[in-house]
Amino acid sequence: MLVLGIETSCDESAVSVVEFDAHSAAKILVEEISSQSDVHKHYGGVVPELASREHLKNLPLLLDSAMRKLDIGYSELGLIGVTRGPGLKGCLLIGLSMAQAISDAHSIDCLGINHIEGHILSAKLDNPALNFPYLCLVVSGGHTEIHIVNGVGDYQLVARTIDDAAGEAFDKSAHLLSIEYPGGAKLAAFADSVSASRFKLPRVMPEAKAFSFSGLKTAVLLLVKGQANNLADPQCKAELCFTIQDAIVRELIYKIEQAVKSTGLKSVAIAGGVSANRCLRHRLSELPGIEPYFATPLHCVDNASMIAYTAGLRTAREQTRRGPYAPLSRWPVEQI
Ligand code: KG4
Ligand code: ZN
Repeated sequence: MLVLGIETSCDESAVSVVEFDAHSAAKILVEEISSQSDVHKHYGGVVPELASREHLKNLPLLLDSAMRKLDIGYSELGLIGVTRGPGLKGCLLIGLSMAQAISDAHSIDCLGINHIEGHILSAKLDNPALNFPYLCLVVSGGHTEIHIVNGVGDYQLVARTIDDAAGEAFDKSAHLLSIEYPGGAKLAAFADSVSASRFKLPRVMPEAKAFSFSGLKTAVLLLVKGQANNLADPQCKAELCFTIQDAIVRELIYKIEQAVKSTGLKSVAIAGGVSANRCLRHRLSELPGIEPYFATPLHCVDNASMIAYTAGLRTAREQTRRGPYAPLSRWPVEQI
């Protein structure tokens, strides 16, 4: 069965076609992605109205390109999976409308997919050997949460951020250091260029079960202000980045360790944009007694293959298969 995936929840338009065999083994046939960071970087964050317009412009081009590359027509598809939420409503609407139109015109089943479920299962898409149950840290620009993944559609929340997401902490810190949006990867590159730092940041809510990054944001602001006269010095900037990355990653790793202790699970996956972070991957790999699983860098960030893959795995259990689906800006994955 060929599954078309469509993702437009934030600032990446993405399309993918994944082939499932009779044993539910998945193979990505084509994946197209168009990032809008060049549009939003001038504003220091995603501008929802501009994002919707970009999706409207880019999505048809990506669909056309994918179908041409595969040399197939829509009627050869067996299923469409489209991101229904969580995300920006106007952006979700573009993907949902397009999916609905294709579904109606060609009588193809269509499933509205939870974006976080996509991230959770992306680790399995890239690591077929990863078996249920596993722990998954979803860590992106909008989300920071750990779940016990018991099976497809069966997620148990362990911890979630009560304020900022880790990606937001990276991006806002980067902004303070005049690093262009989205600054996470660039801040990480500065951080990785040194091996130590003279600066320190306080621990973030070390005992609480929930994540919190707003206190860190204030601490970073004070730290950077204190170095205002030295920011032109590349060594100083790199050391500040090192300290900020270290503080965020330390918090993520600490919560993973807590989750491993409380659940007894040994398989630990990380997913979402921040899971591309090399320091986070390295420290997870060094944790004793666990098996770490990562999505490939292309599947850490928002992509449509994880949406197609999730739709393919969900077909058996889903009652509603045609839509139309209303977009859901909030949609906790443990409630699907
Ligand atoms: O999953 P994603 O593409 O979109 C959301 O759903 O938010 O994640 C984007 C986030 C941004 O905050 C970006 O700065 C961050 O992931 N990010 C990174 C790295 N690559 C992307 N943060 C730290 N280190 C990286 N290497
Ligand atoms: Zn995402």
